[in-house]
Parts: sequence; structure tokens; C-alpha cells
Amino acid sequence: MSTLPRTVIAIDGPAASGKSSTSQWVAERLGFLHVDSGSLYRALTAALLRTGRPPDRWTSGSMVAEGARIALRPEQTSFTALVDGRPAEEEIRGSAVTEHVSQVARVPEVRAWVNARVREAAVEHDVVVDGRDMGTAVFPDASLKIFLVADPWERARRRLTQRLGRRPTDDEIAGETDLIVQRDAKDATQTVQAKDAVLLDTTYLTQAEQVERIVALARAVSHRPGVT
Ligand code: DC
Repeated sequence: MSTLPRTVIAIDGPAASGKSSTSQWVAERLGFLHVDSGSLYRALTAALLRTGRPPDRWTSGSMVAEGARIALRPEQTSFTALVDGRPAEEEIRGSAVTEHVSQVARVPEVRAWVNARVREAAVEHDVVVDGRDMGTAVFPDASLKIFLVADPWERARRRLTQRLGRRPTDDEIAGETDLIVQRDAKDATQTVQAKDAVLLDTTYLTQAEQVERIVALARAVSHRPGVT
């Protein structure tokens, strides 16, 4: 029987596996709120960059202290990460944050801080949470756990299509594939598939198909006794 006060669907997987957009869509279909745990690591990295202190001087203590400037605000269908009280979507998705976020996400004290914020979000709302370790470290009791994977070339192709708004060339995809493989290596230790997660390889699935499969699984588990 679940000991969680609310229903939690945990969606984990490597960079550019489509976790965030799929999670957002699944949350909308189920009437849940989406929590993007990566947005907290990104928001904290943005706050640290705003201090002007060089990244090689960031300590675990200073990282946790800057956490006071970050909040998660519930909106209609998702939580938004605020930096100094304001949304900072463009900044937190930008290249400076992307370059330094793995360094921040590797720090155990930061991970504990993010995990506490994500758990708080799930106290009052049914949530779809996405990240790397939601089904293991944060919500080992989640009602449903999904681990999304896709071939690196396909992840690169999707990411570039979204970013460029056109069909990328093979050379462009090859360059982006290298970056994605490097990021996978940087994040490898924290990207963990739970033993009871459903593995979903999306290489040959459209996003609508991924969403349908997860929504169907969520409906199936919600009929189990003891799960709300
Ligand atoms: O998914 P993303 O690119 O927004 O993640 C940003 C960074 O945060 C990336 O380095 C992986 C890390 N991360 C993590 O370690 N654990 C999570 N639950 C979510 C993200």
C-alpha cells in the first residue's frame, strides 16, 4: 500500500530523452501538476552565476545558501522555478547554466535540497515528476515509475529540430550526438533506473504515443487497491 499522501508518477531518463515535455503532457491529461526537478538544479546554477563568483570557487555551503533565492511556484498545470522571485526560463535553459549545472547537481547537499523541494511539491498536489532519480532517491514509493530512453542520434535529432525549427543536417546531428553522449557521461552516476520502473524506449515512438502509453499505465495503477 502506498504511504504517499498524493499520487506520484516518476519519470526518469537521460538528457534529451523527452522527459520534460512528455511529463508536462501526461500531467495535463491526468489533471496533475508537473514538477521538473532539473529546473531546480538549473535555477540554483543561475542564482550562483548571478553572484559573479567564479564557478571554481563555488562551495557546497555557498550552493545551499543560494538555495534560499529559489522557489517552486504552483501554476495551473506545472510548478515554475523562480530565481529571486521571478521566472527565469530563458536564463535557466541557456548555455551558461547548461555548462555548469552538472557541477552543481553532483553535490550531495544540493541533491538533498532539491529532493526536499520536490517532496514538498508533492504534499499538496498529485504530481508527475521528472528527473534522473525521482523513482529511486526521491519517491521510492511512487505509484508509477517510468524510465525513458532513446537512441542518442534520435535524441540529438529531436533536440535540434526543436531548437532550429527545421530539419537538421546529418553533420549537425552528429555534433549534437557527441554533446549528448558527453552529458550522459557527466550525469551517469545520478541517472538511475528503479528496479520496478517500466522501461520505455521512445526511439521509434511519437510523443503522442509515449504520452498515451504512460497515461494508460497511470490509469491501470490507479485502479490498484491502496493507490489513489
Ligand atoms: O534534465 P535537465 O537537463 O534539465 O537537468 C539539468 C541537470 O540537472 C543535469 O546535469 C542533470 C541534473 N539532474 C539531476 O542530476 N537529477 C535530477 N533529478 C534532475 C536533473
